[in-house]
Amino acid sequence: MAALKIVLWILLSLSHTLAEDYEDLQYIHGMENTISVLPDGSCKCQKELTKWDKLFVMLEDSQMKQNMLQQSIGEVCETELQSIRSEMHQFIANFAGTSTNAIDNAILRITTEMDKKLAYTLKEVSETNVEIESEKKDILHQLLLVSQDLSNRLKKLEMTWQKAVDIKDQRLSLDIKRRVPVKLDTTLNFLATEQQQSKTELTGCPNWSAKHVLPSGCDMALIFPMRSKKIYASVHPDDMTLSSFTACIWIKATHLLDKTIVFSYGTKRNPYQIQLYFNQSSAVFSVHSDTSKIVADDVVSLGEWAHFCTTWSAEDGNATLWVNGRLAAASSGIAVGHNIPNGGLLQLGQENNGCCTGGGFDKSLAFTGKLTGFNIWNRIISEHEIQALTSRDDSCSIRGNVVGWSVTEILPHGGAEFIYY
Ligand SMILES: *[C@@H]1O[C@H](CO)[C@@H](O)[C@H](O)[C@H]1NC(C)=O
Ligand SMILES: *[C@@H]1O[C@H](CO)[C@@H](O)[C@H](O)[C@H]1NC(C)=O
Ligand SMILES: *[C@@H]1O[C@H](CO)[C@@H](O)[C@H](O)[C@H]1NC(C)=O
Repeated sequence: MAALKIVLWILLSLSHTLAEDYEDLQYIHGMENTISVLPDGSCKCQKELTKWDKLFVMLEDSQMKQNMLQQSIGEVCETELQSIRSEMHQFIANFAGTSTNAIDNAILRITTEMDKKLAYTLKEVSETNVEIESEKKDILHQLLLVSQDLSNRLKKLEMTWQKAVDIKDQRLSLDIKRRVPVKLDTTLNFLATEQQQSKTELTGCPNWSAKHVLPSGCDMALIFPMRSKKIYASVHPDDMTLSSFTACIWIKATHLLDKTIVFSYGTKRNPYQIQLYFNQSSAVFSVHSDTSKIVADDVVSLGEWAHFCTTWSAEDGNATLWVNGRLAAASSGIAVGHNIPNGGLLQLGQENNGCCTGGGFDKSLAFTGKLTGFNIWNRIISEHEIQALTSRDDSCSIRGNVVGWSVTEILPHGGAEFIYY
């Protein structure tokens, strides 16, 4: 008999998982206390024993009373299923669509809990089976059926739940939290946290992209991690003989001084053939001489990608400087009739001005930051082409015919290196 009581208690405690503060289930709590069996077989809480003790006495007495017990077990299970079902429906109605993953997890938790308890019940039942008289086997069989029924119904509920999740999209209601039982409340807190986290991740995404993804669909950049006279990159085009050109580059600067070189082309006789450099927030473009230059003020922001294009033609010395697809500075009469000779050094992040003994570089001229999409054409490209370079997502595949990004050899020196996304 004691074994049977244990079985009953286990089955009833299934309900305990999901329902703790429903008034109509209060008597189950009482019952749980009532039939808690001490190791010596005696029972505490004598006063509350009567109802269930009577049941078990009756069960011992006759087959009819055995049927009564079966019926009451059935009723208890039915009540339990009702309350679980209504809770599940409430849950579905209010929380469907909040976060499929979180709900899946919650379902998994609940069903795992149920499965554990059911498995335990079944194990107890089969162990007890050996000990009890044959006439009680019917009851145990009933218990098994009820357990299986409970399991099946839970599966059905789970399926309904998932369907609801698929079609509904409702916001989390805080109000419902007060009405659902304690264990569910824990689950809901978990759901809310999950939802908050995924929201944060989602809203954080654009900022993350802005910071870490390269412009124009470029997947490779050169990084100059610090200011050093050893850190630069040399570019090796086939032929730099030019009577007009366009040079474009994407730049994200870390720090700027009065002269921070973006790119430079210099020969032994004239180290200032072509230069694009930053003077604090201004961009300066010069051809042939440090003094024949055009300046665009307030066009550089630290830590932000910006696109620069420079054009020059020997014919009338027209020079232009474009920032993010817009004309920022222009002048004519810059190095009219000059021809850029081949055989010099084309460099990113440094100039070769022979400043220092032994041909070393000037540390204060070094660029720090990232660059990508460096191209040179031997002609002046159109405004439309310049704008396409900045506005299109796939424009990093547009390449110059003198220097083509990702095609023309570029060698990083010192700590400069290529990074890939
Ligand atoms: C994210 O970007 C927006 C505008 O682009 C800005 O207002 C906001 O401060 C940024 N948030 C963070 C955490 O950087
Ligand atoms: C940088 O700008 C300042 C102020 O406009 C100017 O005096 C200085 O000569 C500039 N330096 C270079 C290298 O262009
Ligand atoms: C140079 O610029 C002037 C106006 O600044 C313009 O009239 C002329 O056509 C330009 N030359 C070329 C070759 O584009």
